[in-house]
Amino acid sequence: MKKALGLEGIVATETELSHVDGQRGELIYHGYSADWLATNHSFEKVVYLLWNGHLPTQEEANQFRAAWVSNRSLSPFLHRLLEELPREMEMMDVLRTVVSAQAGGDKFWPPRWEQGLSLLAKIPAIIAYRYHFLKGNPYPKERSDLSHAAYFLYLLQGIEPNPAHVRALDAYFVLTVEHGLNASTFAARVVSSTRSDIFSCVTAAIGAMKGPLHGGAPSEVAGMLDEIHEPSQAGQWIRNRILAGEKLMGFGHRIYKTQDPRAQALRQVAKELAGKEERFQLALEVERVALDVLQELKPGRNLYTNVEYYASAVLGAVKLPRELYTPTFTASRIAGWCAHIFEQAKMDRIIRPQSEYIGPQLKNKNQSL
Ligand code: ACO
Repeated sequence: MKKALGLEGIVATETELSHVDGQRGELIYHGYSADWLATNHSFEKVVYLLWNGHLPTQEEANQFRAAWVSNRSLSPFLHRLLEELPREMEMMDVLRTVVSAQAGGDKFWPPRWEQGLSLLAKIPAIIAYRYHFLKGNPYPKERSDLSHAAYFLYLLQGIEPNPAHVRALDAYFVLTVEHGLNASTFAARVVSSTRSDIFSCVTAAIGAMKGPLHGGAPSEVAGMLDEIHEPSQAGQWIRNRILAGEKLMGFGHRIYKTQDPRAQALRQVAKELAGKEERFQLALEVERVALDVLQELKPGRNLYTNVEYYASAVLGAVKLPRELYTPTFTASRIAGWCAHIFEQAKMDRIIRPQSEYIGPQLKNKNQSL
């Protein structure tokens, strides 16, 4: 049997949702390139595309938006839960618990888009309510006139969101909403394939998302830039890191063996927002030096920046707190997970690969009980 530890190179499903071309550095969502969508369409319209297979007409977009907004409020039960979870619990653990707590009282299979929308629309409020509760801040008044990105910034910052920041976060949401069979999406599909409910699927996906090799990387990128601090320190710092057998966060990808198109698009978004700031200049210089060092110490591995490297720059430029970088990623990717959960449910075939046994030989062959 051919082994592919980590399922590298294995095609585990068919999908209409996205195509990730790791050789050409292309990402397509249902027939449209992701970077084109990010500059021409809102996050809401792209979610509609993924869930319905076509971009919405104006009327469809209005209806979808109205349904979205009507799902934003948290119940008193969720408010209580957000207040009572241990203070030291990280936001990703809070999200996982609160998503899970919304299950029940509903016919749960097959999953319905109303359930997905209810989960997606509440994520900004869940994050912001918990964030303000822990800080002892007042929680902003709910509003129905803002997009997902604008509402996210408004709820967290408590002020009218800066339009340039809204555009940048909306582009970030579009560029991170969907990405083939990444680890968290695969987790969601495995659970969906058992005919389990959408809440369980998303709970599993959040568990996969928080790991530092997947969605947990952007805050670590920010930590790396803090440690490097000066462009002149970059070479030695990176070299030491790689020679110690550690990975550079925000570099490398299982599929992309060339530039990650999302990293390029987010680099441009960050440049437009904060191109003159020292921090962005440091990020550019660290990327340049790291590519040289990786080429020297890891030749032939084709390591480039991935989405998380410049995600960190964009999220920093829109002034989000670092501990919320991965939860912010969740606020977009949850829509991609739901699209896959719907698609998997239609396929209705359990995902059940094999393992190769490498343990001890049978020891009780000739023994009676
Ligand atoms: N820094 C240094 N070396 C690296 C890096 C890196 N970031 N990524 C891969 N390599 C090296 C490995 O050490 C390995 O070298 P070797 O052949 O000498 O053993 C070689 O490149 C192949 O690496 P693998 O770990 O086998 O690649 P894999 O496809 O399993 O891993 C992954 C992909 C997990 C993304 C990896 O590149 C990594 O850990 N990157 C850092 C974490 C990160 O940025 N994650 C976010 C990914 S994007 C996302 O999930 C949204």
